[in-house]
Amino acid sequence: MSKIILAIESSCDETAAAIIKDEELLANIVSTQIEVHTKYGGVMPEIASRLHCENIAIVLKEALDKAQIKLEDISAVAVTRGPGLIGALHVGIQAAKTIALLYNKPLIPVHHLAGHIYANEYVKPLKFPLLAIVVSGGNTELVIMRDHLNFEIIGETKDDAIGECYDKVARVMGLPYPGGIPIDKYAKEGKHTYVLPRPLHDKSYDFSYSGLKTSVINLAHNLEQKGESINIPDLCCSFQETAIGMILEKALRAVKEYKVKQVVLAGGVSANSYLRAQIQEQLKNSNVEVVIPPMWCCTDNAAMIAKVASRLYDENVFAPLSISVDPSWKIDDFRNF
Ligand code: KG4
Repeated sequence: MSKIILAIESSCDETAAAIIKDEELLANIVSTQIEVHTKYGGVMPEIASRLHCENIAIVLKEALDKAQIKLEDISAVAVTRGPGLIGALHVGIQAAKTIALLYNKPLIPVHHLAGHIYANEYVKPLKFPLLAIVVSGGNTELVIMRDHLNFEIIGETKDDAIGECYDKVARVMGLPYPGGIPIDKYAKEGKHTYVLPRPLHDKSYDFSYSGLKTSVINLAHNLEQKGESINIPDLCCSFQETAIGMILEKALRAVKEYKVKQVVLAGGVSANSYLRAQIQEQLKNSNVEVVIPPMWCCTDNAAMIAKVASRLYDENVFAPLSISVDPSWKIDDFRNF
């Protein structure tokens, strides 16, 4: 019998549903709210939850129609349980629970970042040991995997996530949300002329982005007070090389220490052109395979949630209807719900 997984994702500002049948992606529907949040310069959690409520049924119906699958036919329903915005996560989990209850289907809770890592399986099979560079709006982590569904966080941010830092820095320069996109674009036109600090420049694999954010904000304000204008392309280039440089330095050290065979990028910031180019360039003469997820997989989607769910299904990792969301769920604790 075929294994058909319906997956739902609603952890931030994308409402998404996907269906896979024996690993074939039959439907992958994403409704993004970016345009609405752009007006506020960032994701407004309450608005995100409301829009998920409005869109979830439409997105589900579109996925079922596209895949030509009926809810009776699915093997299980999977859903992002965390991390993410609490109200946003609740919408997805309530939809998934309702389907599980009405159609008597197993419910599979999936870790959002595991999803981002497994998005790479749409490109290449994962090879272990593997280093996942998880860089998104809410998270910055270096994760070692020694096998499937085996995650060890070797380093993480002590304060802000790298994507959050990109978004705040963009705001100070008057650039639109999500800030990573315009900064990445302007950085290509500029030079690294501004000196910025590299916090936690140490032997650990941890990161700190709050100090870098504050120094860019201070620099912009000081220039403003002196009546001088910011050179936007140069500040974007200096910021990008510093922010991504922090990731590259620690990731390349981890590649050696953990003797990894593969490096995968995961999360929204993996769309960054400098990160993508540099990681490939720096590892081109090594035996380490670099896997870069296609752009459609870098942003939030449910296809990646379905990939993880398919493996959890094989291991009978199912949850009771009493489970709830966990906005700060850790990836190394993903079996605990
Ligand atoms: O993974 P994601 O959709 O959010 C979370 O689920 O946390 O990532 C969104 C983040 C935003 O902070 C956005 O500015 C950043 O990804 N981003 C980028 C680029 N494109 C999106 N950051 C750097 N360079 C980019 N090209």
